Amino acid sequence: MNTPQSSSPVWLRTHRCGTLTAADAGRTVTLNGWLAKSRNLGGLLFLDLRDQSGKLQVVVNPETHGALFHQMESVRQESTVGVRGTVRLRPGEMQNAQMATGAVEIVAEEIQVYSESEVLPFAISDITEASDALRLQYRYLDLRRDSVKEKILQRIRIAQLFRKSLESHGFLDFETPYLYKSTPEGAREFLVPSRMHPGSGYALPQSPQLFKQLLMVSGFDRYYQIVKCFRDEDMRADRQPEFTQIDCEISFATLPMVLETFDAVMKEVVNAFYGCEKITSIPRITYQYAMDTYGSDKPDTRFDLTLQDLSALVHEVEFAVFQSALSQGGIVNAIVVPQQEAFFSRKRLDEYTELMKQNGLAGLGWIKVQAEGWQSPMAKFFSPAQIEAVQTALGAKPGDVVLVAAGLRKTVQLGLGLLRNTLAKHLNLTRHEDVRFLWVTDFPAFEYNEEGKRWAACHHPFTSPAFCDIERLETDPGSVHAAAYDLVCNGFELGGGSIRIHQPELQARVFALLGLTPEETEQKFGFLLKALRLGAPPHGGIALGLDRIAMILTGSDAIRDVIPFPKTQRGTCLLTGSPSPLSPQGLSELHLQWKELP
Ligand code: AMO
Repeated sequence: MNTPQSSSPVWLRTHRCGTLTAADAGRTVTLNGWLAKSRNLGGLLFLDLRDQSGKLQVVVNPETHGALFHQMESVRQESTVGVRGTVRLRPGEMQNAQMATGAVEIVAEEIQVYSESEVLPFAISDITEASDALRLQYRYLDLRRDSVKEKILQRIRIAQLFRKSLESHGFLDFETPYLYKSTPEGAREFLVPSRMHPGSGYALPQSPQLFKQLLMVSGFDRYYQIVKCFRDEDMRADRQPEFTQIDCEISFATLPMVLETFDAVMKEVVNAFYGCEKITSIPRITYQYAMDTYGSDKPDTRFDLTLQDLSALVHEVEFAVFQSALSQGGIVNAIVVPQQEAFFSRKRLDEYTELMKQNGLAGLGWIKVQAEGWQSPMAKFFSPAQIEAVQTALGAKPGDVVLVAAGLRKTVQLGLGLLRNTLAKHLNLTRHEDVRFLWVTDFPAFEYNEEGKRWAACHHPFTSPAFCDIERLETDPGSVHAAAYDLVCNGFELGGGSIRIHQPELQARVFALLGLTPEETEQKFGFLLKALRLGAPPHGGIALGLDRIAMILTGSDAIRDVIPFPKTQRGTCLLTGSPSPLSPQGLSELHLQWKELP
């Protein structure tokens, strides 16, 4: 048979660098990769060749291959090369146990330089002094570093495990549009002006929420999609303007059924990722319990330091801060930090007090429990019997430090929740390898926005109120629970979902509660209400944040570590220079004009 002759000079590899072992000794191989290191030792040239799978030592002997030796001596690191040669066992004392392929080396016969590298802006090594900005500017070089590459490969593996698990549970992989219409998920949107429709435009999806619901109405019963979502919000370590959701939906679903399904999916993925039974079950707690116990709706349960309610015990203590809080219907809560008296210097206590003040509290009370009594600025307000009662209730022992906050319920809980996390960091109470998943359920459905003077949905407006609370929708919306749940791990919200509203009348009532007029409802969501009128199954689902899950499972500090091309804190791409100025011609084609602000 006549095959077309390739004009490409590339030698097709027979093996990957990282895969060769002692069992391959004697094999003739062709390898491709980057020249990671080159050193002339005792007259032999040792090259480290690196590809995606790992590194391998290549030896060039000047006695047998003089020309090759001279050619390779001057080739710069990080040039790309092809190597042909024979695998040889390294002599015992030359074996390198630190290297996966340290038992062997390649005796080079031929080397082809595909592309010679210029001098690099920073060395490709595991420990680097390059700044974050330089690493982002040359992200493709940064990705050559083993530790950085490894995280991206792990992210890919996590996505593969999700696909495998979801497909085994009957989910089908769909696509939905990126050129979309506004959806209210709470963040600002990225807008895409339309060339063909002057004055109109699309919004990039904050999530495919409504399309996945419409797929349920279409009759597909298990949807999933690993999908980019876009939100123009302030950045944090766990937020990027574009991020990836593992978005899922099930028709004819109940809340326990959705949680059971994703219990199973998470267990399959996490246990396969670690290669051991890392999680056996995912505990469920209510929002109320989470707030009362941890002062957070996404508690980190790797450590204790739980909140304890002292309100009933201190109502007779003549301390103005307590009295003022309790008379306004507030609470007094405490955290006991066991056996850390020495850690709480004056400076630390001032720092934590300042943190509480920045978060709306009057300050932070502290008690150093000692054998002879309390050392505390508050001690004078307590009678011996009150001291005894509080100490017994808290189970506090000499050497413990008790931190106390008083004020409005939510302010106290959130303040102490933040303090709890800060203390865990400062006292080094957590380890990256620990993963503590939990479901948080029974969220409030709506919260009142004082600024806008209106009710807002806590999850999104398509979330069903708990069935038994629907009758209070108009009369007492603040007391209505949502049929919603979050998946939480180590203090991060990894996913969120809900049972959806599938009755058009109920959906219209929720829109009305959120302050939409019938005209606005029709203009924004007429298509949804129409679909709900044309045979909608009860349905529910969840979206898991792939970036956050990968961050936790790889023990990273920020999601940008598990994203190949992340944006900076200011939403810029230092590699390509985006966002970049829009050209007058581009703007004019979109019927837009740039207006300088005065
Ligand atoms: P939600 O808004 O809770 O729900 O988002 C689901 C999950 O997406 C991840 N996430 C983010 N990750 C990185 N950067 C961001 N800016 C960002 N924003 C969100 C989080 C979060 O838990 N449509 C609903 C889901 C549903 O009801 O099914 C939704 O998007 O891990």
